[in-house]
Amino acid sequence: MNFIDLRSDTVTKPTEEMRKAMYKAEVGDDVYGDDPTITELESYAAELVHKEASLFVPSGTFGNQLSLFTHCNRGNEVILGEDCHIVMHEVGAPAIIAGVQLRPIKSNKGEINPFEVEKRIRGVDIHFPETALICVENAHSNGKVISLENMKDIYEIGLKHNIPVHLDGARLFNAAAYLNVHPKEITKYCDSVMFCLSKGLCAPVGSILAGSKDFIQKARKKRKIMGGGLRQAGILAAAGLIALKDMRKYLKEDHENALYLGEQLSKIPGININLDDININMVFFNMNDELYNMDKLVEEFYKKGIKINGPENGELRFVTNYWIKREDIDYVIKTLKEILNRK
Ligand SMILES: Cc1ncc(COP(=O)(O)O)c(C=O)c1O
Repeated sequence: MNFIDLRSDTVTKPTEEMRKAMYKAEVGDDVYGDDPTITELESYAAELVHKEASLFVPSGTFGNQLSLFTHCNRGNEVILGEDCHIVMHEVGAPAIIAGVQLRPIKSNKGEINPFEVEKRIRGVDIHFPETALICVENAHSNGKVISLENMKDIYEIGLKHNIPVHLDGARLFNAAAYLNVHPKEITKYCDSVMFCLSKGLCAPVGSILAGSKDFIQKARKKRKIMGGGLRQAGILAAAGLIALKDMRKYLKEDHENALYLGEQLSKIPGININLDDININMVFFNMNDELYNMDKLVEEFYKKGIKINGPENGELRFVTNYWIKREDIDYVIKTLKEILNRK
């Protein structure tokens, strides 16, 4: 069965062009610095986000953790939002890999208050860990895009206290599409950035960590410690180049489809949804108990060729992607109405 897969944008498969480019990719041993396709990808990616250098890494989690590992020493402290991906969904890796302490602060739909960030920067005291890094996330995994003003304010606090800012930009290009700006307008407010080539951009594997030359040189060695020194990785970079050059333009369509999906859902009585929160390709909503048991939907949808995740914290999340078209969304809505009517 050809499923409509709304679980995440991580489920995207590579396009025909990517498969062809991967087949033909010129490769070498990247640990020796010999892979021309990786070299091309890393310089293209660095230029795209206006950083001096970049590094190919196997995943977004790898890129974030490598950033912490490179910016920080063991026992340092990292300030970040309580609901960001690094805190919520990276398996406690900062304690294991970089050996740092996280200092999560309250977030308002993903946005952290610059004054609260500044308050938590440690002074000199025998009892205190050293604040080594501030992390922000844009677009946020709650589907919201953080304002450039907020990013600027936080970056300026970092500058004032000589503390670098890392941006988890797994969906950086979704944020840029939403804000209608070049990605460099976002990345100018960070010292390092991780962004994914997979997810909405459809590459099968890979993310990029970008920053200063010195930072990336250090990160390259630490990547080796983490087992991320890949050999003929040009096969993956070939798809990554298409992701960055060609696929970014389709993200707006994913966003429009998500909004359309949200609008259709909002017309169903008993479904609670805030359309203003649909900034990118993610639609969060819940249902009144009398309407339907959300846990049961996973199975019912599956029988009809639709994959969704079960509810998390009482909410369902549907995510659009390149392979999901308007007619698929119409089918999802029609199927949902049928399920609700025959309950
Ligand atoms: C905001 C954010 N950061 C990092 C990641 C991690 O990416 P990966 O799944 O490639 O490790 C994700 C994954 O969905 C994410 O949403």
